[in-house]
Amino acid sequence: MTQQDQATRRVPQAPIHGPEGFEGMRRAGRLTAEGLDVLMEATQPGVTTEALDKLAYEFAMDHGAYPASLLYRGYPKSICTSINHVVCHGIPNDKPLREGDIVNLDMCLILDGWHGDSSRMAFVGEVPRKAARLCEITYEALMRGVAAVKPGGSTNDIGRAIQTYAEGERCSVVRDFCGHGLGRSYHDAPTILHYVEASYDVSLRPGQFFTIEPMINLGRPAVKVLSDGWTAVTRDRSLSAQFEHTVAVTETGVEIFTVSPKGLHQPANPGA
Ligand code: MF3
Ligand code: CO
Repeated sequence: MTQQDQATRRVPQAPIHGPEGFEGMRRAGRLTAEGLDVLMEATQPGVTTEALDKLAYEFAMDHGAYPASLLYRGYPKSICTSINHVVCHGIPNDKPLREGDIVNLDMCLILDGWHGDSSRMAFVGEVPRKAARLCEITYEALMRGVAAVKPGGSTNDIGRAIQTYAEGERCSVVRDFCGHGLGRSYHDAPTILHYVEASYDVSLRPGQFFTIEPMINLGRPAVKVLSDGWTAVTRDRSLSAQFEHTVAVTETGVEIFTVSPKGLHQPANPGA
């Protein structure tokens, strides 16, 4: 979600979910992860993002689910496909993917009313070394953010883990989009920033559900939204990557709802 959403709405308390919520989120998160596995395997040179979107829609229908992004605030598609310098919210279209592109596939499926939201980077054929490195750094940044989740901690633990690591690798953290609480709604409290913000820090308690979805740039953090009202790109046109998991705070730490059943979390160059 956008930082503006956060600024203009009244922020409710982050809801605490019980066992029924955990069960619902395990099923929704797993289905989204299975859907992303299908999309990862279908991402090849010459394939259009429109074709991937159709695959995602059909996957949802075949499994009794619905894509949360479809008609969400007028968004026209079932997934977001964000290529190279696109930071997020790229709209699938009929342009074929090209060898060397990196593409973020972002999918949120609603199953029995629960939302599983996740995204991954896919490689189109063989990608340049610096693009592969950015994706590795961004995945590691997500997983460090996830590892920082514990009851009694707070949201800035997550932001700190991500920012310290990413900036240490001479990359930058996008400020304009953030992670979000979710459950029966798509976007809920708490807001999850991927950097430290002293003026906003929410305590983490067992039963909170939220996404962590850092966007990391090779260049500067500034983004702009194109005239379609959705597509966000880096202002300096540097490459951008993103990974996203839906997680819960548990009594002892963290549970990831969107683990890939096939272990297809990270893309790899052929032969690497
Ligand atoms: N994971 C993104 C988010 O939570 C996906 C947004 S879908 C869109 O903000 F419909 F808003 F584009
Ligand atoms: Co999200």
